[in-house]
Amino acid sequence: MRPVFVFKADGQRGRQWADVFGREAPDIDFRLWPEIGEPQQVRYLATWVAPADLGMQFPKLELLFSTGAGVDQFDVAALPPRVSLVRMVEPGIAHGMVEYVTHAVLDLHRDMPAYRRAQQQRQWQPLPVRTAAECSVGVLGLGSLGQAVLAQLVALGYDAAGWSRSRRALPGVRCHASADELDAFLARTQILVCLLPLTDATRGMLDAALFAKLPRGANLVHVGRGPQLVPGDLLRALDAGQLAEAVLDVTDPEPLPETDPLWRHPRVCITPHIASMTQPQTAARVVIDNLRRHARGEALVGLVDRARGY
Ligand code: GLV
Repeated sequence: MRPVFVFKADGQRGRQWADVFGREAPDIDFRLWPEIGEPQQVRYLATWVAPADLGMQFPKLELLFSTGAGVDQFDVAALPPRVSLVRMVEPGIAHGMVEYVTHAVLDLHRDMPAYRRAQQQRQWQPLPVRTAAECSVGVLGLGSLGQAVLAQLVALGYDAAGWSRSRRALPGVRCHASADELDAFLARTQILVCLLPLTDATRGMLDAALFAKLPRGANLVHVGRGPQLVPGDLLRALDAGQLAEAVLDVTDPEPLPETDPLWRHPRVCITPHIASMTQPQTAARVVIDNLRRHARGEALVGLVDRARGY
Protein backbone atom coordinates (compact mmCIF):
# COMPACT_ATOMS: atom_id res chain seq x y z
CA MET A 1 0.00 0.00 0.00
CA ARG A 2 1.26 3.48 -0.85
CA PRO A 3 1.89 5.74 2.15
CA VAL A 4 -0.96 8.22 2.65
CA PHE A 5 -0.28 11.97 2.65
CA VAL A 6 -3.14 14.32 3.60
CA PHE A 7 -3.19 18.00 2.58
CA LYS A 8 -5.53 20.22 4.59
CA ALA A 9 -5.90 23.74 3.17
CA ASP A 10 -8.09 25.49 0.65
CA GLY A 11 -9.12 23.47 -2.37
CA GLN A 12 -7.44 25.59 -5.01
CA ARG A 13 -4.04 25.30 -3.38
CA GLY A 14 -4.76 21.65 -2.73
CA ARG A 15 -5.24 20.96 -6.42
CA GLN A 16 -1.91 22.61 -7.22
CA TRP A 17 -0.22 20.43 -4.60
CA ALA A 18 -2.05 17.39 -6.01
CA ASP A 19 -0.66 18.13 -9.50
CA VAL A 20 2.93 18.25 -8.24
CA PHE A 21 2.49 15.07 -6.19
CA GLY A 22 0.82 13.33 -9.15
CA ARG A 23 3.76 14.18 -11.40
CA GLU A 24 6.68 13.84 -9.03
CA ALA A 25 5.58 11.41 -6.32
CA PRO A 26 3.13 8.88 -7.78
CA ASP A 27 4.35 6.43 -5.13
CA ILE A 28 2.59 8.55 -2.47
CA ASP A 29 -1.19 8.44 -2.02
CA PHE A 30 -2.07 12.17 -1.97
CA ARG A 31 -5.45 12.95 -0.39
CA LEU A 32 -7.13 16.32 -0.18
CA TRP A 33 -9.04 17.17 3.00
CA PRO A 34 -11.85 16.28 3.75
CA GLU A 35 -11.70 13.28 1.36
CA ILE A 36 -9.06 11.51 3.40
CA GLY A 37 -10.35 7.94 3.51
CA GLU A 38 -9.38 5.91 6.58
CA PRO A 39 -7.64 8.22 9.10
CA GLN A 40 -5.78 5.16 10.48
CA GLN A 41 -3.84 4.97 7.21
CA VAL A 42 -2.55 8.55 7.28
CA ARG A 43 1.22 8.78 7.81
CA TYR A 44 1.85 12.36 6.75
CA LEU A 45 -0.26 15.50 7.20
CA ALA A 46 0.31 19.04 5.88
CA THR A 47 -1.87 21.70 7.50
CA TRP A 48 -1.87 25.20 8.97
CA VAL A 49 -3.67 24.17 12.16
CA ALA A 50 -3.78 20.69 13.60
CA PRO A 51 -7.11 19.06 14.50
CA ALA A 52 -7.47 19.01 18.32
CA ASP A 53 -7.41 15.22 18.65
CA LEU A 54 -4.59 14.71 16.19
CA GLY A 55 -2.92 11.86 18.07
CA MET A 56 -6.18 9.89 18.40
CA GLN A 57 -7.52 10.67 14.95
CA PHE A 58 -4.29 9.70 13.16
CA PRO A 59 -2.72 6.89 15.17
CA LYS A 60 -0.09 6.19 12.45
CA LEU A 61 0.92 9.80 11.86
CA GLU A 62 4.71 10.25 11.58
CA LEU A 63 5.21 13.69 10.06
CA LEU A 64 3.24 16.90 10.51
CA PHE A 65 4.11 19.65 8.02
CA SER A 66 3.18 23.27 8.67
CA THR A 67 1.93 24.81 5.42
CA GLY A 68 3.54 28.10 6.57
CA ALA A 69 6.93 29.22 7.79
CA GLY A 70 5.77 29.50 11.41
CA VAL A 71 4.77 26.72 13.79
CA ASP A 72 3.58 28.83 16.76
CA GLN A 73 -0.03 28.00 15.85
CA PHE A 74 0.60 24.38 16.94
CA ASP A 75 0.45 23.25 20.54
CA VAL A 76 3.80 21.48 20.29
CA ALA A 77 3.61 20.00 23.80
CA ALA A 78 0.30 18.30 22.91
CA LEU A 79 1.71 16.49 19.87
CA PRO A 80 2.40 12.79 20.39
CA PRO A 81 6.19 12.18 20.71
CA ARG A 82 6.16 9.92 17.62
CA VAL A 83 5.11 12.85 15.39
CA SER A 84 7.86 15.08 13.98
CA LEU A 85 6.82 18.67 13.24
CA VAL A 86 8.33 20.33 10.17
CA ARG A 87 8.38 24.06 9.32
CA MET A 88 7.90 25.17 5.71
CA VAL A 89 11.33 26.11 4.42
CA GLU A 90 10.75 26.72 0.72
CA PRO A 91 12.12 29.18 -1.83
CA GLY A 92 8.72 30.74 -2.63
CA ILE A 93 8.23 32.04 0.92
CA ALA A 94 11.79 33.34 1.05
CA HIS A 95 11.33 35.14 -2.27
CA GLY A 96 8.15 36.90 -1.11
CA MET A 97 9.78 37.94 2.15
CA VAL A 98 12.83 39.33 0.33
CA GLU A 99 10.52 41.44 -1.88
CA TYR A 100 8.47 42.76 1.03
CA VAL A 101 11.36 43.63 3.34
CA THR A 102 13.52 45.09 0.56
CA HIS A 103 10.59 47.26 -0.50
CA ALA A 104 10.02 48.45 3.08
CA VAL A 105 13.72 49.14 3.69
CA LEU A 106 14.12 51.09 0.43
CA ASP A 107 10.92 53.03 1.16
CA LEU A 108 12.17 54.02 4.61
CA HIS A 109 15.78 54.65 3.60
CA ARG A 110 14.71 56.92 0.71
CA ASP A 111 12.28 58.84 2.99
CA MET A 112 9.19 57.91 0.98
CA PRO A 113 6.79 58.21 3.97
CA ALA A 114 7.94 61.84 4.40
CA TYR A 115 7.54 62.53 0.67
CA ARG A 116 4.04 61.05 0.66
CA ARG A 117 3.12 63.39 3.51
CA ALA A 118 4.82 66.33 1.76
CA GLN A 119 2.84 65.66 -1.40
CA GLN A 120 -0.41 65.85 0.56
CA GLN A 121 0.68 69.37 1.61
CA ARG A 122 1.94 70.13 -1.96
CA GLN A 123 5.39 70.79 -0.51
CA TRP A 124 8.48 70.50 -2.70
CA GLN A 125 11.00 69.73 -0.01
CA PRO A 126 14.14 67.71 -0.80
CA LEU A 127 15.69 65.83 2.11
CA PRO A 128 19.40 64.90 2.29
CA VAL A 129 20.02 61.65 0.41
CA ARG A 130 21.92 58.97 2.28
CA THR A 131 23.61 56.15 0.40
CA ALA A 132 22.69 52.58 1.27
CA ALA A 133 26.14 52.20 2.83
CA GLU A 134 25.24 55.01 5.23
CA CYS A 135 22.02 53.29 6.26
CA SER A 136 22.31 50.57 8.87
CA VAL A 137 19.76 47.79 8.70
CA GLY A 138 19.54 45.09 11.35
CA VAL A 139 17.62 41.85 11.06
CA LEU A 140 16.43 40.09 14.22
CA GLY A 141 16.29 36.38 13.45
CA LEU A 142 18.77 34.65 11.14
CA GLY A 143 16.80 31.63 9.99
CA SER A 144 16.24 30.89 6.31
CA LEU A 145 14.11 34.03 5.82
CA GLY A 146 16.47 36.36 7.69
CA GLN A 147 19.39 35.02 5.72
CA ALA A 148 17.64 35.48 2.36
CA VAL A 149 16.63 39.04 3.26
CA LEU A 150 20.15 39.94 4.38
CA ALA A 151 21.72 38.56 1.19
CA GLN A 152 19.57 41.01 -0.81
CA LEU A 153 20.27 43.94 1.52
CA VAL A 154 24.01 43.25 1.26
CA ALA A 155 23.70 43.14 -2.55
CA LEU A 156 22.08 46.60 -2.43
CA GLY A 157 25.00 47.90 -0.39
CA TYR A 158 23.32 48.40 3.00
CA ASP A 159 25.33 48.41 6.20
CA ALA A 160 23.82 45.11 7.26
CA ALA A 161 23.81 43.34 10.60
CA GLY A 162 21.93 40.44 12.10
CA TRP A 163 21.12 39.06 15.50
CA SER A 164 20.26 35.52 16.47
CA ARG A 165 20.26 33.38 19.57
CA SER A 166 23.15 31.23 18.40
CA ARG A 167 26.06 32.52 16.34
CA ARG A 168 25.87 32.61 12.54
CA ALA A 169 28.37 33.70 9.93
CA LEU A 170 26.87 35.37 6.84
CA PRO A 171 28.84 37.05 4.03
CA GLY A 172 28.87 40.84 4.35
CA VAL A 173 26.77 40.82 7.53
CA ARG A 174 27.92 41.79 11.01
CA CYS A 175 26.46 38.94 13.00
CA HIS A 176 25.60 39.35 16.67
CA ALA A 177 24.59 36.50 18.94
CA SER A 178 22.85 35.92 22.27
CA ALA A 179 21.42 38.36 24.80
CA ASP A 180 24.96 39.65 25.47
CA GLU A 181 25.26 41.21 22.02
CA LEU A 182 21.70 42.42 21.55
CA ASP A 183 22.30 45.95 22.87
CA ALA A 184 25.30 46.53 20.57
CA PHE A 185 23.24 45.29 17.62
CA LEU A 186 20.34 47.62 18.47
CA ALA A 187 22.61 50.63 19.07
CA ARG A 188 23.82 50.52 15.44
CA THR A 189 20.49 49.76 13.76
CA GLN A 190 18.51 52.52 12.00
CA ILE A 191 16.06 50.15 10.34
CA LEU A 192 15.13 47.17 12.50
CA VAL A 193 13.54 44.18 10.77
CA CYS A 194 11.91 41.54 13.00
CA LEU A 195 11.89 38.05 11.53
CA LEU A 196 11.96 36.10 14.79
CA PRO A 197 9.81 33.06 15.47
CA LEU A 198 7.20 33.46 18.21
CA THR A 199 8.39 31.76 21.40
CA ASP A 200 8.11 32.53 25.10
CA ALA A 201 11.44 34.37 24.76
CA THR A 202 10.29 36.62 21.89
CA ARG A 203 6.72 37.36 23.04
CA GLY A 204 6.56 41.08 23.89
CA MET A 205 10.21 41.57 22.93
CA LEU A 206 9.52 44.66 20.78
CA ASP A 207 8.79 46.92 23.72
CA ALA A 208 9.75 50.32 25.14
CA ALA A 209 13.03 49.02 26.59
CA LEU A 210 14.12 47.64 23.21
CA PHE A 211 13.03 50.75 21.29
CA ALA A 212 15.02 52.91 23.73
CA LYS A 213 18.21 51.05 22.74
CA LEU A 214 17.83 51.96 19.04
CA PRO A 215 19.26 55.25 17.76
CA ARG A 216 16.72 58.07 17.96
CA GLY A 217 14.49 58.19 14.88
CA ALA A 218 14.96 54.50 14.00
CA ASN A 219 12.35 52.56 12.03
CA LEU A 220 10.68 49.20 12.56
CA VAL A 221 9.67 46.64 9.93
CA HIS A 222 7.73 43.88 11.69
CA VAL A 223 7.26 40.68 9.75
CA GLY A 224 7.58 38.24 12.66
CA ARG A 225 4.46 37.59 14.70
CA GLY A 226 1.95 40.04 16.20
CA PRO A 227 2.40 39.09 19.89
CA GLN A 228 6.11 40.02 19.72
CA LEU A 229 5.12 43.70 19.63
CA VAL A 230 3.78 45.76 22.53
CA PRO A 231 1.54 48.13 20.52
CA GLY A 232 1.16 50.79 23.24
CA ASP A 233 4.96 51.01 23.55
CA LEU A 234 5.25 51.39 19.78
CA LEU A 235 2.72 54.24 19.66
CA ARG A 236 4.47 56.02 22.54
CA ALA A 237 7.90 55.58 20.90
CA LEU A 238 6.51 57.01 17.62
CA ASP A 239 4.87 59.97 19.37
CA ALA A 240 8.05 60.69 21.32
CA GLY A 241 10.18 60.60 18.15
CA GLN A 242 12.24 57.67 19.41
CA LEU A 243 10.91 55.77 16.41
CA ALA A 244 10.21 57.50 13.08
CA GLU A 245 8.08 54.96 11.18
CA ALA A 246 6.73 51.46 11.61
CA VAL A 247 5.75 49.00 8.90
CA LEU A 248 3.65 46.17 10.33
CA ASP A 249 2.62 43.09 8.39
CA VAL A 250 1.60 41.24 11.55
CA THR A 251 -0.63 42.33 14.44
CA ASP A 252 -2.30 40.83 17.48
CA PRO A 253 -5.06 39.93 16.92
CA GLU A 254 -5.40 39.41 13.19
CA PRO A 255 -7.38 40.89 11.58
CA LEU A 256 -6.62 44.07 13.53
CA PRO A 257 -9.95 45.41 14.92
CA GLU A 258 -11.28 48.53 13.18
CA THR A 259 -11.07 50.50 16.44
CA ASP A 260 -7.37 49.80 17.04
CA PRO A 261 -5.33 53.05 17.28
CA LEU A 262 -2.54 51.52 15.16
CA TRP A 263 -4.76 51.98 12.08
CA ARG A 264 -4.94 55.72 12.51
CA HIS A 265 -1.34 56.54 13.40
CA PRO A 266 0.19 58.59 10.55
CA ARG A 267 3.58 56.91 10.95
CA VAL A 268 2.33 53.36 10.89
CA CYS A 269 1.89 51.42 7.66
CA ILE A 270 -0.16 48.23 8.04
CA THR A 271 -0.48 45.36 5.60
CA PRO A 272 -2.71 42.33 6.31
CA HIS A 273 -0.11 39.56 6.81
CA ILE A 274 0.74 39.33 3.12
CA ALA A 275 4.52 39.77 3.25
CA SER A 276 5.02 36.28 1.98
CA MET A 277 2.97 33.21 1.14
CA THR A 278 3.80 29.57 0.65
CA GLN A 279 3.94 28.86 -3.09
CA PRO A 280 2.32 25.50 -3.91
CA GLN A 281 4.72 24.60 -6.76
CA THR A 282 7.91 25.05 -4.79
CA ALA A 283 6.48 24.02 -1.41
CA ALA A 284 5.11 20.67 -2.63
CA ARG A 285 8.56 19.82 -4.03
CA VAL A 286 10.22 20.64 -0.71
CA VAL A 287 7.73 18.41 1.12
CA ILE A 288 8.29 15.56 -1.36
CA ASP A 289 12.04 15.93 -0.82
CA ASN A 290 11.48 15.71 2.93
CA LEU A 291 9.33 12.57 2.52
CA ARG A 292 12.23 11.00 0.58
CA ARG A 293 14.67 12.03 3.29
CA HIS A 294 12.37 10.54 5.94
CA ALA A 295 12.14 7.26 4.01
CA ARG A 296 15.97 7.12 3.84
CA GLY A 297 16.30 7.96 7.53
CA GLU A 298 18.01 11.29 6.77
CA ALA A 299 17.66 14.61 8.59
CA LEU A 300 14.57 16.62 7.58
CA VAL A 301 14.80 20.21 6.33
CA GLY A 302 12.92 22.47 8.76
CA LEU A 303 12.51 19.89 11.52
CA VAL A 304 11.26 21.71 14.62
CA ASP A 305 13.28 21.40 17.80
CA ARG A 306 10.48 20.96 20.33
CA ALA A 307 12.53 22.33 23.21
CA ARG A 308 13.32 25.55 21.28
CA GLY A 309 9.83 25.79 19.81
CA TYR A 310 10.94 26.52 16.21
C1 GLV B 1 3.19 33.10 7.59
O1 GLV B 1 3.26 33.93 8.43
C2 GLV B 1 3.85 31.84 7.64
O2 GLV B 1 4.20 31.36 8.74
O3 GLV B 1 4.09 31.26 6.57
